[in-house]
Amino acid sequence: MKTIISPSILGGSFSNMEKTISELDKSKAEYIHFDVMDGDFVPNLTFGPQFISNVRSHSNKIFDVHLMMNRVQKFIDDYIKAGSDIISFHIEIEDDLKKLISKIKENNIKCGIAIKPKTPWDKIKPYLDEIDQVIVMTVEPGFGGQVFINDQVDKIKNISNYIKSKDLNVQIEIDGGINYETGKICIEAGADILVAGSFLFNQDNLTIATNNLIDELGK
Ligand code: DX5
Ligand code: ZN
Repeated sequence: MKTIISPSILGGSFSNMEKTISELDKSKAEYIHFDVMDGDFVPNLTFGPQFISNVRSHSNKIFDVHLMMNRVQKFIDDYIKAGSDIISFHIEIEDDLKKLISKIKENNIKCGIAIKPKTPWDKIKPYLDEIDQVIVMTVEPGFGGQVFINDQVDKIKNISNYIKSKDLNVQIEIDGGINYETGKICIEAGADILVAGSFLFNQDNLTIATNNLIDELGK
């Protein structure tokens, strides 16, 4: 199956997001990844639902929204209304996760659960038959531009083997430190979707950088 690339806008300038979105919209990427951070669950702040809603009209790509925040239940309606196509929240938060899954799915939005590097992979098991994707974090969530944590590759393999053994319809997305080399390792371990941020934004042309990564890894 082909690998999907989900470029993360976190690497772009927040003063010119329209440019970032339109460059990604021109690319072959199917997804755009939005990193929501609340300054509480992670030590950084980004944007909220209004931002997603404002850029929605600038792109027809699949909006892959990654909520690195506590109190998801309180704000979930806003992220649903903003035009998200996929909403992922973290397994480590204190909300009722099953309730959140139902809420997202009853609005015909795909649901994902993200898992931090230090959280054991099997914590995700009780949710796998209800969700559409797992985000395996290969950096500590909070910042772009960090180095890929190699020991997460076994976690990808374990989740992938479990999904196959149960014949579940769940995709594995990898988030953090993706480039040509780490991306290839993740695909071999069972990844379906790769988030890429700084690797793309550190190149001269975002559209070309995205297309090159897709040509290399998205087969
Ligand atoms: C990290 C974010 C990632 C990040 C990826 O907290 O969830 O999506 O933007 O950026 P790179 O590719 O630079 O690690
Ligand atoms: Zn992310």
